[in-house]
Amino acid sequence: MEIRHNILQLRLLLVSVLFLAIGHAQGDHQHARSSAVHSLPVKNPEEMEALYWRENAQSTLAAKLAALELAHTKKAKNVILFLGDGMSIHTVTATRNLLGDSSAKVYFEQFPYTGLSKTYCINRQVADSACTATAYLGGVKGNYGTIGVNANVPRYDCKAAYEAANQVDGIAKWAQDVGKDVGLVTSARVTHASPAGVYAHISDRNWENDAEVISAQCDPEESIDIARQLVEWDVGKRLKVILGGGRQNFLNNTERDEAGYQGYRTDGRNLIKNWLADKKDQKASYVWSHKGLTQLDLDNTDYLLGLFASGHLPYDGDRERSPKNSPLADPSLTELTEAAIRVLSRNDEGFFLFVEGARIDMAHHDNYARRSLEDTAEFARAVQKAREMTSDQDTLIVVTSDHSHVLTVNGYPRREQDITGLADKDADDNLPYNILSYANGPGYAGTYTKTDGRKRVTQKHTEYPLYVSPSMVPLNADTHGGDDVTVFASGPYAQYFSGNYEQTNIPAMMARAAGIGPYANVQP
Ligand SMILES: *[C@@H]1O[C@H](CO)[C@@H](O)[C@H](O)[C@H]1NC(C)=O
Ligand SMILES: [Zn+2]
Repeated sequence: MEIRHNILQLRLLLVSVLFLAIGHAQGDHQHARSSAVHSLPVKNPEEMEALYWRENAQSTLAAKLAALELAHTKKAKNVILFLGDGMSIHTVTATRNLLGDSSAKVYFEQFPYTGLSKTYCINRQVADSACTATAYLGGVKGNYGTIGVNANVPRYDCKAAYEAANQVDGIAKWAQDVGKDVGLVTSARVTHASPAGVYAHISDRNWENDAEVISAQCDPEESIDIARQLVEWDVGKRLKVILGGGRQNFLNNTERDEAGYQGYRTDGRNLIKNWLADKKDQKASYVWSHKGLTQLDLDNTDYLLGLFASGHLPYDGDRERSPKNSPLADPSLTELTEAAIRVLSRNDEGFFLFVEGARIDMAHHDNYARRSLEDTAEFARAVQKAREMTSDQDTLIVVTSDHSHVLTVNGYPRREQDITGLADKDADDNLPYNILSYANGPGYAGTYTKTDGRKRVTQKHTEYPLYVSPSMVPLNADTHGGDDVTVFASGPYAQYFSGNYEQTNIPAMMARAAGIGPYANVQP
């Protein structure tokens, strides 16, 4: 019995080895056929030499050994969390090409430690920016659409989010409670889901103002909206730096903001005035323009509120393409990050800063691949600025994403091809196809004719900055993706961030590195 069983196993093994070998040979064969042109790689001739790759491996190894020797045994005085919203692995890979070549490094790819984070939420395999914000800032998973609360709070519930037992504390509070300064920077509205994770507890991410609470049939004096929580509640009130967009949620709809846009509130509150009144005995400044920001004495500012747009800040590519001296010109994410670090660095106890590159995600939702890569490039510049302004001996920088998107990189493009263009060869329908495409989203309309299969796309189409990439399934907005996202870390205890772990472990590891909050003293 035993012997027969073993023989059977051996046979199975042999068969599968054979099968694998055949599969391999066929795969190789197909691959050879599809890349029949044996042209020399024109991009980097030095790559032709084995020595090039040997030296590359040597310097990678040397850097790893140096990182290991650099024993980070000192606590992280400062922690900066950079969140590329929707910045999937494909997004980062494609951005290398936007920066010039596949071998280019998006700045934070130089960080010595990387890991993978699992982004699912309690009730969804594919998450949104709300439940993930609770995870990477508070260390607890909640329900899709909820922020700063555990999974006992169903989305849209009028009351459950206001019960203390359901509210999730996070790294912002842990840092404030030991005397560190805390700030947030985003290219979205400061009340949008990701930044709200720093300070809010709410059952629906859309309740950014009281009108939204009313339309959900809850009482706005009981279910306090996100903008009010930012100005009136414990963590929000103590934030030293708040930089982003979203004036509309701070003003009544009978008021207009500096650019002439109406507010969205209906309770008569002017939350910008309320914020200033609350801090009237401090050195507190409100600014609304790039010019206003550059004129501030940041080294003499205790509290800074900067709201640079009625809604979100522009896509970085569009900002770059727009006239520079317009009075409504917006600051870049890099400039905002620099201003935040200058204000927060004044505290000898250190700081926690959250920086979100929000529009990487929004561009993907519209299948604007190029805009998304441009925003990723700007996000990387902001990380670089932060790393250059701080020391890796006392400042931990963690770069990650909340969730993936359904963008793919495909079609064996030649090395020198622009990744936003067309694949090297036509598809089986004798039509060109794109290197970058989405599984779903509004790009469907430009991809298919009503009756005749795919539309013909030209290289010239793809070069338009606002070109909408193709998608397979028609959807008003592309969905997020469910694959893991990368975590990049540099600074004290960056080594914690290697491996594959729950997204909820990220704030725990940051807190352990800084010696704050409930994880300050975790021992092996
Ligand atoms: C705020 O807006 C609402 C709705 O338009 C309006 O009824 C109310 O009078 C306004 N409140 C103040 C104080 O202006
Ligand atoms: Zn999104």
